[in-house]
Amino acid sequence: MTFGHGSYIDYPRWPQLAREAYSLDLSHVRENVPEYVEGIVISGMGGSGIVGDIVRDYLTFLGYDKPVIVVKDLQLPKFVANRKFLVVTVSYSGNTTETIRCLEECIRRNIPVVTVSTGGKLEELARQHSVPHVKIPKATAPRYGLPCLLYPTLRVVELVERSLASKIREHVEASIKAIEEAIEDYLTHVKELSRKLVNKLAMIYVPQPLISIGIRFKNDMNENAKQPVVVCPLPESEHNDIAIHARKHDFLEVVLVRSRSLAGTEYEKHVNAVEQILRQYGVDIHALDLKGGNVLAEIMYGITLLGMLTIDVAHLAGIDPVKIEVIDNVKKYVSK
Ligand code: PA5
Repeated sequence: MTFGHGSYIDYPRWPQLAREAYSLDLSHVRENVPEYVEGIVISGMGGSGIVGDIVRDYLTFLGYDKPVIVVKDLQLPKFVANRKFLVVTVSYSGNTTETIRCLEECIRRNIPVVTVSTGGKLEELARQHSVPHVKIPKATAPRYGLPCLLYPTLRVVELVERSLASKIREHVEASIKAIEEAIEDYLTHVKELSRKLVNKLAMIYVPQPLISIGIRFKNDMNENAKQPVVVCPLPESEHNDIAIHARKHDFLEVVLVRSRSLAGTEYEKHVNAVEQILRQYGVDIHALDLKGGNVLAEIMYGITLLGMLTIDVAHLAGIDPVKIEVIDNVKKYVSK
């Protein structure tokens, strides 16, 4: 059953959406962002908020030496106003209360800000207050529009951190190829895993520098399949989550993310340790080897492949992946 959305909703057009979104005309943004910033703040919730996690992981890996602060809240940290930060408020719909509050705070406190949305209140406020706005292409729902949200945000980063621009451009191109590869790999090698995950609690062990993959997998499984997931960052989960494998839990399935970008770093040892020890305890591990050649590409490879997996889990459970009525009800309540 595909509930009339097509098997994988917008995933087959992610490469095309990514190219389209990355090449939007941002000349009006270039003219309005500060020439120098002391850090970047990315505000957004859920399918829009993940953009902040990805950009933080990616820039940190690149060795970016300024703070990248992800705000999934109704307000910005107080120190943002006292420093030269650029805030990017990201909301697919443009109507998410928390993100609107952050934009209003920027306007009120005169903090440089760029808005990213398909329209909505964010676009309206941006127009009223001469805030540079990036109008992005549409998808079926926010989480399926990730390329439309992420790639223009990376362009904004390029505009304020010009020395990184050519590297980011190169990595973006590789990441779009990685999305293509993930779609292919999912359909040929991974799809069967969805049968194991349906109605189970998945634990995803993921090295901390790539935590955005785990967060996104959890969010996608929650929203698409209406199932819980536990995100286990390594090394922290070596000090708590892994203890549970001393007992056998039939309701659990374990996914382990392995990265080539982290080969030769200490994280590799931690991933290997968890894999070996868990196997000794008889845990059946589903290992996911990321592809892509750079960290942004690896993140988009993992996110694409696991996202498609959550859609199959939804279909196997007889659930419409697109509908998120509980979230909609809470949104209606808080926006009253
Ligand atoms: O993917 C979804 O539908 C949600 O996680 C939304 O992204 C979230 O509720 C925030 O909405 P928006 O992305 O429109 O700001």
